[in-house]
Amino acid sequence: MMLAIGSDHGGYELKEHIKAYLTAKGTEVKDFGVYNEDSVDYPDCAVPVCEAVLSGECERGILVCGTGIGISIAANKINGIRAALCGDVYSATMAKEHNNANVICLGGRVVGRELAYMIVDAWLNAEHLGGRHAKRVEKIHMLENKR
Ligand code: RB5
Repeated sequence: MMLAIGSDHGGYELKEHIKAYLTAKGTEVKDFGVYNEDSVDYPDCAVPVCEAVLSGECERGILVCGTGIGISIAANKINGIRAALCGDVYSATMAKEHNNANVICLGGRVVGRELAYMIVDAWLNAEHLGGRHAKRVEKIHMLENKR
């Protein structure tokens, strides 16, 4: 599985740790930046990761900003992206099982690195349950371009 990862400056440090963690476990990770802690705008950082997921180049995406909030709001504006901001393991599992989240967002200034690894693992190891959950996800996409 190829994963896309990206962050703004607020998420840079945690992004680097997650990338190293996943790489050490043998997961392929494509890093879309940023590559240092210079101040940038988080919507710009969300776009390349989301595009890689939508094109199929990467199976899923991981985004990190300071809180995870801004970058998740931005990612969710992109049609086809279901970005889940997760700060706990249960939500990370549900994000895949129920919401079929194709992007997970974390707050680099909020969650510790070990918790972040557990969150990412929970989301990666979960499978979408389909059925009634798939119908609800479809209804989310029916909201796109409606207003
Ligand atoms: C950048 O200072 C910070 O606003 C950003 O990383 C993120 O937390 C926004 O939601």
